[in-house]
Amino acid sequence: MAPKLEDVEEEQRHFANVVNTFRNYAQYTLSANNRRRKDIYRLPQADQELLGQLGYKQKLDAADKAILANADFLAKIVEDTQMFGDEPNREDAENTFGEINPYNSLSHDDDLGQPHNHSHSDSHSHAGARHGHGPSQPARKFRPAEFDMDKLRSTLKQFVRDWSEEGEAEREACYKPMKDALLQHFANATHEERRKLRVLVPGAGLGRLAYDVAKLGFVCQGNEFSHYMLLSSFFILNKTDGVKCHTFYPYVHSFSNAPNKVSILQAVSIPDVSPSDLPAGSNFSLVAGDFEEIYGTESDPDEPQHGQWDAILTCFFIDTAKNIVNYLRIIHRILAPGGVWINLGPLLWHWENNTSNDPSVELDLEELKSLARRIGFEFSVRGSR
Ligand SMILES: C[S@@+](CC[C@H](N)C(=O)[O-])C[C@H]1O[C@@H](n2cnc3c(N)ncnc32)[C@H](O)[C@@H]1O
Repeated sequence: MAPKLEDVEEEQRHFANVVNTFRNYAQYTLSANNRRRKDIYRLPQADQELLGQLGYKQKLDAADKAILANADFLAKIVEDTQMFGDEPNREDAENTFGEINPYNSLSHDDDLGQPHNHSHSDSHSHAGARHGHGPSQPARKFRPAEFDMDKLRSTLKQFVRDWSEEGEAEREACYKPMKDALLQHFANATHEERRKLRVLVPGAGLGRLAYDVAKLGFVCQGNEFSHYMLLSSFFILNKTDGVKCHTFYPYVHSFSNAPNKVSILQAVSIPDVSPSDLPAGSNFSLVAGDFEEIYGTESDPDEPQHGQWDAILTCFFIDTAKNIVNYLRIIHRILAPGGVWINLGPLLWHWENNTSNDPSVELDLEELKSLARRIGFEFSVRGSR
């Protein structure tokens, strides 16, 4: 079914706004740092002098430099958004949005695949997902607000978790048990058989778990609907050669609870592995769009979903559901016979107390397990019964 024009326009506008958020990062963030600078002059002279002795102003100057380095990195990510159907050198979201198609299927080999027309939002933060202006309203100049910048700052931190050496411990605390469970489930598969086993990672974020699974030799598809994540994962997976070639400062945005300057001004270089180092013949793709729409409806006759996946790995994902019943039903339906669903993460229901009047079902762990059984899952790992 063809998507509604107004949905496409809304989506295009949203994509343009996200790109503009990347491009406005320096101005917005430098101005926040400048607020600190100006506040010094609101203090009594004696207090200003004491702060001067601490080197507080020098810390602000160093923060400016770090912010500018972050801006360079973020600008690279949105330097070329044509891959997403964007027009070259788009400067302003208030322009027309005729040609943008942010729904492409992104693959590691720059194979664009078939476009998917699925709606999405960037609601990976908590309640109250904000949407752009309705298509019938005249386009107003978009100015990123704290809400938008917060997503961008989270994206930088997410880069640390997924793609840096510094993030390894945190990353492996989540991904290793999942990869181990996957390997254990298919322990008897030969190397050749493994290359035919299809693994889906919904809510793939910046793509590291999906990449690691592909590196283990499985066919792996990540799915993600946030443009912040999609632009960033595309950049790291398809536009980055070599290790530690991008340096940024993820902790420069807040001075609260910092033990010292070094902690605020810590540089992180990514990636820790060369993303192009997947073994020859690897089959790794990222599909943009809403999980429920892509995998829950047989909307693309060329890509049937029912019973097609040998494993589904959900990491910090299932609590993004408005209706967890539908998520579990889809996961169960698209698993192949003998397939496995491997889940890790909290039940921090993203839509709890939302202000956008979206439905939200917030099960406790017992209820979740009982629901999974009723839908047809059998628990196979000790401790999760
Ligand atoms: C909490 S993050 C976890 C990301 C990643 N799995 C990780 O562990 O770092 C949840 C992710 O799911 C994505 N997401 C949420 N709902 C989604 C949906 N319906 N379809 C596709 N992606 C979704 C969000 O954009 C976000 O990137």
